[in-house]
Amino acid sequence: MEISSLGYIGINSARIDEWSSYATKLLGMQQIDSGASTRAFRMDDRKQRLVVTGAENDGLGFMGWEVPNAMALGALASRLENAGVAVEVAPQALADERFVTQLIRFRDPENNLIEVFYGPQITTDPFLPGRTMSGFKTGAMGMGHAVLNSANVDALIPFYTELLGFKVSDYIRTPFPIYFFHCNARHHSFAMAGIGSQGFHHFMVEYNLLDDMGQGYDIAATEAGRLAFTLGRHTNDYMQSFYTHSPSNFFVESGFGGLVIDPDTWQPHEMFDGPSLWGHDRLYMAPDDDRRKNLFNQRLDLAQRGVQAPNCPWLHEVKESMK
Ligand SMILES: [Fe+2]
Repeated sequence: MEISSLGYIGINSARIDEWSSYATKLLGMQQIDSGASTRAFRMDDRKQRLVVTGAENDGLGFMGWEVPNAMALGALASRLENAGVAVEVAPQALADERFVTQLIRFRDPENNLIEVFYGPQITTDPFLPGRTMSGFKTGAMGMGHAVLNSANVDALIPFYTELLGFKVSDYIRTPFPIYFFHCNARHHSFAMAGIGSQGFHHFMVEYNLLDDMGQGYDIAATEAGRLAFTLGRHTNDYMQSFYTHSPSNFFVESGFGGLVIDPDTWQPHEMFDGPSLWGHDRLYMAPDDDRRKNLFNQRLDLAQRGVQAPNCPWLHEVKESMK
């Protein structure tokens, strides 16, 4: 299928000055000039990766998924239209605003706005991170991952797999379903959590170096209430990360060391060990919240059983495939 990576994300928020400070000083993005009522940020050699629109309805504005060329964009648009999805070819002015050659727009079954584009504009101006660090892991794996809350994952899954071509990486069934999807070598570029209501849970950016991520952790700790999940490590992609409250009503995950897969041979599977090998304590939940206590007990059980990430994920996958 056509989609190759998460190219950009747009956030609806009128808290643009808070976003400026958060995206540069904590996340380390570079703010670029984009007018008085919006904000835009770079993460690499792309002219733009994150946009904050200035719109009042806080949350996800749009996800921008990349395809390699015009032919791929046309093929995807045709498949969507044949399935009865209303597809808009965006005017040139919008493509210019997104710094891409062309894009189409449509909505998923829960009304999330999706853009698909080809031809991102690259700049030779060096990336200047908003705090001193080496930079973000992007390239062919895209800007990171995006995770939606969903009212009904059963309605969303066929849309994202059969129409958009995402492949399932793995999934959790209880206490509520979470599905992880890949479209390149990043373990997941997209996920959905069936919590019974629709919304945006978080997006993730991955750093080149452990210290890039870890120093962000200390910077987050300078602000009361900023940290949402403590430092931890995920069970499926082995990402070492922490989560902060963004200025809008969702989280941002700052990660390092995520699993790189071979998308051609990866086999989807169910997971039974919860979301995290250790850490990721949800500070935003009350200490006596049963969900927080259950997650903690689940992690203690993993510690007792010695369940850990393999030292060499690549070798681990080779061994698994030979079983
Ligand atoms: Fe994540």
